Amino acid sequence: MVNMGVIGCGHWGPNHIRIFNQLPNSNSLMCADLDENRLKAIQQLYPNIQAVKDYQEILNNPQIDGVCIAAPTKSHYEIAKAALLKNKHVLCEKPLAVTVAECEDLKKIAEQQKRVLLVGHVFVFNATIAWVKDYIDSGDMGNIFYAYATRVNLGPFRYDVNALWDLAPHDISIFNYFFNNCPVNVSARGHKVLGGRLEDLSFATLEYPNNIVANLHVSWLDPRKVRQITIVGDKKMLVWDDLDSECPVKIYDKHVEKTDTFYETYGEFQLLSKVGSIMIPKINLNEPLKAQAQYFIECMSKDNPPSKADAQKAADVVKTLIAIQKSMDAKGECVNL
Ligand SMILES: NC(=O)c1ccc[n+]([C@@H]2O[C@H](COP(=O)([O-])OP(=O)(O)OC[C@H]3O[C@@H](n4cnc5c(N)ncnc54)[C@H](O)[C@@H]3O)[C@@H](O)[C@H]2O)c1
Repeated sequence: MVNMGVIGCGHWGPNHIRIFNQLPNSNSLMCADLDENRLKAIQQLYPNIQAVKDYQEILNNPQIDGVCIAAPTKSHYEIAKAALLKNKHVLCEKPLAVTVAECEDLKKIAEQQKRVLLVGHVFVFNATIAWVKDYIDSGDMGNIFYAYATRVNLGPFRYDVNALWDLAPHDISIFNYFFNNCPVNVSARGHKVLGGRLEDLSFATLEYPNNIVANLHVSWLDPRKVRQITIVGDKKMLVWDDLDSECPVKIYDKHVEKTDTFYETYGEFQLLSKVGSIMIPKINLNEPLKAQAQYFIECMSKDNPPSKADAQKAADVVKTLIAIQKSMDAKGECVNL
């Protein structure tokens, strides 16, 4: 039985508390938040949980094996470092930190302390995303030409980080997972529409090795909630829709062929569209946050450092976010990673 302490009980932390209570081999023993109203709300839901204001009380409790950090992004580094140094295993929400140096420092400390450091890149634990990854790797889609992700909604708004740092870690971690790499360069535009201090929306183009181009659109200011990714290969095309629980993945047997005859006037190939059926694979859906928690517990109990969503992959995501931010600040300039 693994005893967990959850630090940060705002919008997202309670989901971690619920999951560590639901799993048969873990328990949410303690939680911490600076806001007493949040602590009262958690205690009403979970009367047995010990709720404290200062997270150091969690770190000083020898009964606690691991902590889950769901506090604001800018506090991740400080809390994760303190927890690892107190010999706690750490599951930290995304993004792991705000600089690559901080991510690398946490990676080093976790290795030195022989503690698990897992990062909440929850989509790599999503069964439909894992299915798409296997499908890309099977070669059925052929070579990938390009992909694009849309992650937009009206809110929820954040006041600590902009829409890029809030939403894009998900799509960057998915693209890096699909293409086994981080981008080589990025160019992006962002816009401060609402408060004027933070970008509420961003359009970013990421160039990956093997000539793959990926685009992402994140926004807090959109009429519809959309979580979609489209991938175009030279043999097949695929659409993933996280909000379509019945058909989250659709594979389109569509591609373009070149004829062996040339246009007489232009000396160019003629391009022909080939259109076949649409396939909807049967995928057993899971609760990704639960799968992530299970993986964390498994790594802890087997004394295995994670191979998914580890500190290095989190550092790659942060490196990409920093490059996109730099490009947005320079109004779309291409930034190499
Ligand atoms: N994986 C996902 O899909 C997902 C979804 C939402 C949020 N998140 C991540 O979770 C984290 C929290 O997001 P949120 O939406 O819950 O934010 P939030 O602002 O709603 O909650 C953060 C809570 O942390 C508390 N807090 C701040 N500093 C603290 C400290 N030093 N000690 C203890 N508590 C402290 C605040 O009082 C607040 O209640 C962020 O990193 C965010 O990116 C991930």
